[in-house]
Amino acid sequence: MLEKHSSAGGKVQACQCRRRVVTFFSSPKALFLVLWTLVFASVFWWRTSYVDEVGFSLQLPRVRTGPMFRPVAFNLTDFGAVGDGETLNTDAFESAVAEIAKLGERGGGQLDVPAGLWLTAPFNLTSHMTLFLAEGAVILGVEDERYWPLLPPLPSYGYGREHKGPRYGSLIHGQNLKDVVITGHNGTINGQGQTWWTKYQKKLLNHTRGPLLQLMWSRDVVISNITLRDSPFWTLHPYDCKNVTISNLTILAPVSGAPNTDGIDPDSCEDVVIENCYICTGDDGIAIKSGWDQYGIAYKRPSINILIRNVTVRSVVSAGVSIGSEMSGGVSNVTVENLHVWESKRGLRIKTAAGRGGYVRNIFYRNVTLNHVSIGIVIKIDYNEHADEFFDPKAIPTLESIHFNGIHGQNVDIPVRLNGSKEIPVRDVSFRDMSIGLNYKKKKKNIFRCSFVQGRIIGTIFPAPCANLDIYDGWGRLVKRSVLPKKRNIGYSFL
Ligand SMILES: *[C@@H]1O[C@H](CO)[C@@H](O)[C@H](O)[C@H]1NC(C)=O
Ligand SMILES: *[C@@H]1O[C@H](CO)[C@@H](O)[C@H](O)[C@H]1NC(C)=O
Ligand SMILES: *[C@@H]1O[C@H](CO)[C@@H](O)[C@H](O)[C@H]1NC(C)=O
Ligand SMILES: *[C@@H]1O[C@H](CO)[C@@H](O)[C@H](O)[C@H]1NC(C)=O
Ligand SMILES: *[C@@H]1O[C@H](CO)[C@@H](O)[C@H](O)[C@H]1NC(C)=O
Ligand SMILES: *[C@@H]1O[C@H](CO)[C@@H](O)[C@H](O)[C@H]1NC(C)=O
Ligand SMILES: *[C@@H]1O[C@H](CO)[C@@H](O)[C@H](O)[C@H]1NC(C)=O
Ligand SMILES: *[C@@H]1O[C@H](CO)[C@@H](O)[C@H](O)[C@H]1NC(C)=O
Ligand SMILES: *[C@@H]1O[C@H](CO)[C@@H](O)[C@H](O)[C@H]1NC(C)=O
Ligand SMILES: *[C@@H]1O[C@H](CO)[C@@H](O)[C@H](O)[C@H]1NC(C)=O
Ligand SMILES: *[C@@H]1O[C@H](CO)[C@@H](O)[C@H](O)[C@H]1NC(C)=O
Repeated sequence: MLEKHSSAGGKVQACQCRRRVVTFFSSPKALFLVLWTLVFASVFWWRTSYVDEVGFSLQLPRVRTGPMFRPVAFNLTDFGAVGDGETLNTDAFESAVAEIAKLGERGGGQLDVPAGLWLTAPFNLTSHMTLFLAEGAVILGVEDERYWPLLPPLPSYGYGREHKGPRYGSLIHGQNLKDVVITGHNGTINGQGQTWWTKYQKKLLNHTRGPLLQLMWSRDVVISNITLRDSPFWTLHPYDCKNVTISNLTILAPVSGAPNTDGIDPDSCEDVVIENCYICTGDDGIAIKSGWDQYGIAYKRPSINILIRNVTVRSVVSAGVSIGSEMSGGVSNVTVENLHVWESKRGLRIKTAAGRGGYVRNIFYRNVTLNHVSIGIVIKIDYNEHADEFFDPKAIPTLESIHFNGIHGQNVDIPVRLNGSKEIPVRDVSFRDMSIGLNYKKKKKNIFRCSFVQGRIIGTIFPAPCANLDIYDGWGRLVKRSVLPKKRNIGYSFL
C-alpha cells in the first residue's frame, strides 16, 4: 500500500520536472550552456579515464597518477607492499590478484605497481587483469629457491628441461587465463638470475630453473612497454596460448654466463605477434618451439601463425631467431620481417634431430639485416639433445617450404649452412635478394654450403649459392638446374 502510494507520488514529481525542463530548453542561451557543459564534461571524463596525469580520478576516491585500462584499479601499496627491495611482498601481490579475480565479470581490474623495488616470491595472475608497471617500478624475484613452488613438468616436454621430475614455476605465472595485459611506462621485472646461473653451473640445483614470465593455456594476452631482465631461465614463455601480442619490450640478460636465458619462446602457440622489441640475452633472442620428442609428438600442439617484426637481437652465444630444437608438435606459418641481428653467433637458425618428429614448414624471412654475425643462416638436423632414451629415432622431422627474401648484412664469417641429411632432407628452400658482406679474414669458410637440400635461387645473390639449388632469373625462368655434387657432405668441421 505504502509502496504504491510513494511510486505514484514519484510519477507526479517526474511529470512536473519534465515540464520545467522543456521550458528551460526553449531558451537558446540555456541550450547552448547545457551543450557546452556536456562537451566539456565528456572531454574531461575522457582525459581523466585515459591519460590521467592531473592526479584526479572519477572512478576511485583515492588520488591516482597512472592511466586506467580497467574500470577499477588498485595500488600495490594499498595491500601493504613496501618497495624497499628487502621486504617480501608476495602477500600483497597475491591479495591484489585475489581482489581483481572477484571483478572478472565486470571488466576486471588493474594493479598499479608504483616506482620502487618490490621484492616478491612467485605469484599467479588472474583473468581480466592488467598489471601496470610505472616508470621506475621494479618487481624483483626472490633469489632463494625455497620460495619458488615446484610445478609438474610441461606435458609436451615430459621432464623439466634440465632435470627429471618437477620444475620451478615462473616468477610471474598464469594458467587457463583470458584477457591478461602486462604493460606500463617501461617498468621492469627482474629475475635476479645471477644466483640461479651460478647454482646451475655449479650443479647445485635439483630441478629445472623457472622462467621469468610464463602463461600456460591462456588467450588474449598483451605484454607491452616493459623491460624484462635477468631471468633465471627462458625469459618470456607463452605455452599453448592463443592470441598473444608482445610489443615494445626490452629484454636483457648478460650476453654470456647467463645460460638458457632465451628472450621469448612461443611454445605450441597460435596467433602470436612479436614486434618492436629489443632483445639482448645469454641465449636465443626468440626461439619458436612445440615440445620435445615423444612427449611433444603425443601432445601434438603446433606453433602456428607467428609474426615477428621490427625486432633487434644481439645473441653472442646463440642465435637471433631460432626454430626448435624442440619442435615435435610442428611449427608452421612463421613470418620474420624487419629483423636486425648484430654481434651474434648466428642470425637465423632452424635446429632439429631424428626423434623429434613434427615439421617446420611455411617459414618466411623478409628483410633481415645481419651485422657482425659468425654464421648467417643455419639449418642443423643433428641437434641430438633428448629428454630420455625412450625417444623414437624413426620419428623423422619434416623440413620444407623455407623462404629467405631480402637478407643483407656485413661482417659475416659464414653466410649459409643448410645441413640436411639423407634421412632428414630440406625441401623447397628459396633465396631471393640476398647480399651478405663477408668477413674476408676468414676466407676459407665463407662459402654458401648445403647438403641434402632442394630448392631455388631467384635472381642473383651474394655470396654465390651452393650447386644443390636451381637458379631462376627475376622473371621466374629456369636458368640453371641444380648440380648435385657426388659427395654431398663437404667438410663441415665447424658450426
Ligand atoms: C600508488 O601509491 C603510491 C604511494 O602511495 C603513490 O606514490 C603512487 O602515485 C600511487 N600510484 C597510482 C597509480 O596512483
Ligand atoms: C599458481 O597456479 C598453479 C596452477 O594453478 C599452482 O600449481 C601454483 O601453486 C600457483 N602458484 C602460486 C605461487 O600460487
Ligand atoms: C626501457 O628501459 C630499458 C632499460 O632501462 C631501456 O634500455 C630502454 O631504452 C627503455 N625503453 C624506452 C622506450 O624508454
Ligand atoms: C638438492 O638435493 C640435495 C640432496 O637431496 C640437497 O642436499 C640439496 O639441498 C638440494 N639442493 C637444492 C637447491 O634444493
Ligand atoms: C586478441 O586479444 C586482444 C587483446 O585481448 C583482443 O582485443 C582481441 O579481440 C583478441 N582477438 C581475437 C580474435 O580473439
Ligand atoms: C606503450 O607506449 C607507447 C609509446 O609510449 C604508447 O603509444 C602506447 O599506448 C603504450 N601502450 C600501452 C598499453 O600503454
Ligand atoms: C608500442 O609502441 C607504439 C609506439 O611506439 C604504439 O603505437 C603501440 O601501440 C605500442 N604497442 C602496444 C601494444 O602498446
Ligand atoms: C621498431 O622498434 C623500436 C623498438 O625496438 C621502436 O623504437 C620503433 O619505433 C619501431 N619502429 C616501427 C616502425 O614501429
Ligand atoms: C599466417 O600467419 C599470418 C600472421 O602471422 C596470418 O595473417 C595468415 O592468415 C596465416 N596464414 C594461414 C594460412 O593461416
Ligand atoms: C628493413 O628492416 C629495417 C630494420 O632492420 C628497417 O629499418 C627498414 O625500414 C626495413 N625495410 C623495409 C623496406 O621495410
Ligand atoms: C652435417 O650433416 C651430416 C649428416 O648429413 C652430419 O654427419 C654432420 O655432422 C653435420 N655437420 C654439422 C656441422 O652439423
